[in-house]
Amino acid sequence: MIDELETLAGRRDDAWQVPRVEGELLHQIALSSGAKRIVEIGTSYGFSGLFWGAAMLRTGGQLHTIDREEKKYQSSKQTFAEAGLSQVITNHLGDARQVLTTLPTGIDIAFIDADKKGTRDYFDLIWPKLRVGGSILVDNATTHRSELSQYVQFVRTLKEAGSAEVAVGNGLEWTVRLA
Ligand SMILES: C[S@@+](CC[C@H](N)C(=O)[O-])C[C@H]1O[C@@H](n2cnc3c(N)ncnc32)[C@H](O)[C@@H]1O
Repeated sequence: MIDELETLAGRRDDAWQVPRVEGELLHQIALSSGAKRIVEIGTSYGFSGLFWGAAMLRTGGQLHTIDREEKKYQSSKQTFAEAGLSQVITNHLGDARQVLTTLPTGIDIAFIDADKKGTRDYFDLIWPKLRVGGSILVDNATTHRSELSQYVQFVRTLKEAGSAEVAVGNGLEWTVRLA
C-alpha cells in the first residue's frame, strides 16, 4: 500500500502527503514512545496514516484521523481496510475544529497536517487533551516556514513546553508537553 500511494500521489493533483522518509520517522516516533492514542488532522488519501497505523498494530493503540473531504475519507478508509489496519484506525469525516471536541483526553501524539492558517486553532483544542510527555507534531515546518512562523514563535515561548524543528521531509515542528 505504501508503494502504491507513493506512486499515486504523483498522478493525483490533490494528494499532498508527507515524503516517505518522514512517514518512517513518524512510525519510529510512535513506536519509541509506545503511543496508544494518536490524532491526525489531515488524512488525505491515507499515506501518513499507514505509517501511524502500522505502529498502532505493534503498540495496541488507535489512530484517530480526520479529514473534511468526503472523497478522501472514503478512499483512505478503503486503503486502511486493504492494508489490514481497520481495527486500529478510526476515520472521522468533518472539520477538525468540531471533531476534536468529541475526542477523549489522554492523547499521546497529535499530528497536524492540514491548512496552515488553522494550526493554532487545532493546537488550542488538542493541548488540554495531550498527556504530559505527549507530542504535537506540525508538518511543513521547513516547506511553509513563513506561514507557520507565528505558530512556531508561540510554541517556543510556552513555559510548559519544549519545541524544536526536525528537518526531515517537509520538516516538523515538534512540541513536547512538559507540565
Ligand atoms: C496535506 S493533506 C494531508 C496529508 C496526509 N497527512 C498524508 O501525509 O498523507 C491536508 C488534508 O487536510 C484536510 N483538511 C484541511 N483543513 C481541514 C480541517 N479544518 N478539518 C479537516 N480536514 C482538513 C484536507 O482536506 C487535506 O486532505
